[in-house]
Amino acid sequence: MSFYKYHVFFCTNQRDDGSACCQQHNAHEARDYAKKRIKELGLSGHGEVRINKAGCLDRCDLGPVLVVYPDETWYTFVDNEDIDEIINEHLLNGRIVPRLQI
Ligand code: FES
Repeated sequence: MSFYKYHVFFCTNQRDDGSACCQQHNAHEARDYAKKRIKELGLSGHGEVRINKAGCLDRCDLGPVLVVYPDETWYTFVDNEDIDEIINEHLLNGRIVPRLQI
């Protein structure tokens, strides 16, 4: 069994040259929101869900992006409602959210 049931990486990379990056879409704030919600839901810790920030995941033009392991499922998102949907569907119930997949 893996250490975490789900390990979620948010790209929070920021570029100062104006080229595409996830922080242009407030990725850091989205990551903080997800981390807060997971904690509120009592899902953080070993055997549960871990939310981490990551550097560039090399899918910048599709950003903002996150990836859920071990499912290797990539998502993009627009707002906290999208984050809630990923949490409620995928992380709580194991159902992938096709409309947000990349
Ligand atoms: S800056 Fe986020 S994937 Fe590259």
